[in-house]
Amino acid sequence: MNILILGSGGREHALAWAVLQNPKCDKLIVAPGNAGIDQIADCASFDIEDGSAVVSFAEANAIDFVIVGPEAPLAAGIADRLREAGILVFGPSAAAARLEASKSFTKEICDAANAPTAAYGHFTDAQAARDYIRQQGAPIVVKADGLAAGKGVIVAMDEQTALDAIDDMFGGAFGGAGAEVVIEEFMEGEEASFFILCDGKTALPIGTAQDHKRVGEGDTGPNTGGMGAYSPAPVLTDEIAQKALDQIVQPTIDEMARRGTPYQGVLYVGLMIKDGQPRLVEYNVRFGDPECQVLMMRLGAQAMDLLHSAAEERLASTRVNWADDHAITVVMAANGYPGAYEKGSVINGLDALPEDSRNMVFHSGTTAAGGAITATGGRVLNVTARGDSLQEARDRAYAMVDAIDWPGGFFRRDIGWRAL
Ligand code: AMP
Ligand code: GLY
Repeated sequence: MNILILGSGGREHALAWAVLQNPKCDKLIVAPGNAGIDQIADCASFDIEDGSAVVSFAEANAIDFVIVGPEAPLAAGIADRLREAGILVFGPSAAAARLEASKSFTKEICDAANAPTAAYGHFTDAQAARDYIRQQGAPIVVKADGLAAGKGVIVAMDEQTALDAIDDMFGGAFGGAGAEVVIEEFMEGEEASFFILCDGKTALPIGTAQDHKRVGEGDTGPNTGGMGAYSPAPVLTDEIAQKALDQIVQPTIDEMARRGTPYQGVLYVGLMIKDGQPRLVEYNVRFGDPECQVLMMRLGAQAMDLLHSAAEERLASTRVNWADDHAITVVMAANGYPGAYEKGSVINGLDALPEDSRNMVFHSGTTAAGGAITATGGRVLNVTARGDSLQEARDRAYAMVDAIDWPGGFFRRDIGWRAL
């Protein structure tokens, strides 16, 4: 099979690495890729949000199967265009991608599916939104309705912060994304992510993970795209995972099918867990980054068969081959991230590191320049290890981190603390 992966992050490097272990992969191209991906696959450059460009590239390169990494091409309808052209694709239609692209749409689906989630109001008028906040009181959560690159959610511990967020959003701080807001009840508990493959009808769980959103140790400082992750997440016990499937995931998939917009792809289910009960925080229509890195490390070669089975609507007869293992990834980011960060610093020491089924450095924002690997993004490396215990995997991951010579970068020393 000739495979095309769309994206350029650590998520796509991990997907590429897993796909290449599967003997069914004859040729792999990643667009646009990064310096790490370029070491293991061919990289190509075209606009991955332009349907015509993606379809013509896939046709010209005899691609049999396309795996879409990020949400933006999905929201732009890339999976629809590929399906119209008769090319097999892993990823939801634009209509189904609304589960990430519109917070109010997700809340409406939860209502129809009777799925446990935070109580909410949906507003297109700033004054009505302010009245609702005053009536509900703090803590309260204000969310821009549309895609806002992870910056559209304000968890307000006092009323004034929430009111200020309304002014910002209706004042255009998030562009079109803020013309509509969802205001939610603040949920307490522990967060975990549950990853489910869907083929329109069947839900197949492929793992749990916990992310570390804040930039600083002890979960302090501003939010980031994620500074590290591990899998499995012990808080998502088998019993709670089953409740999440029965009460949230399957009813959502059934409701999407009932509306004529079946969900196919991976559903990233963000859960808040309290007193043994899961509630939905959010859906994403893609793998998490860096959660994908730990999931791929654990699934290995079977990952490609699982994604292919989802695309071919065969999940009802597909099983995951589970191992009782643990994986962890530590993100190394450029100094200054998530604010303005330095670009172009050189990373040394990568060549001496082991790269095997238990130890991998997945690249995010890297470029090869003059024989060296340089940092060109905010999040740059994902140092990933798998082991029989989380502690063992973590020790090996940090040993690799310590062997990387990169004065231009930093990382958190406490990834995995919640589980250990
Ligand atoms: P979202 O983009 O919806 O995942 O929100 C980003 C983060 O905000 C989540 O990962 C949670 O930590 C937090 N959050 C979102 N909604 C709520 C809520 N209703 N209650 C408490 N925290 C929330
Ligand atoms: N790591 C969080 C995300 O991918 O949304």
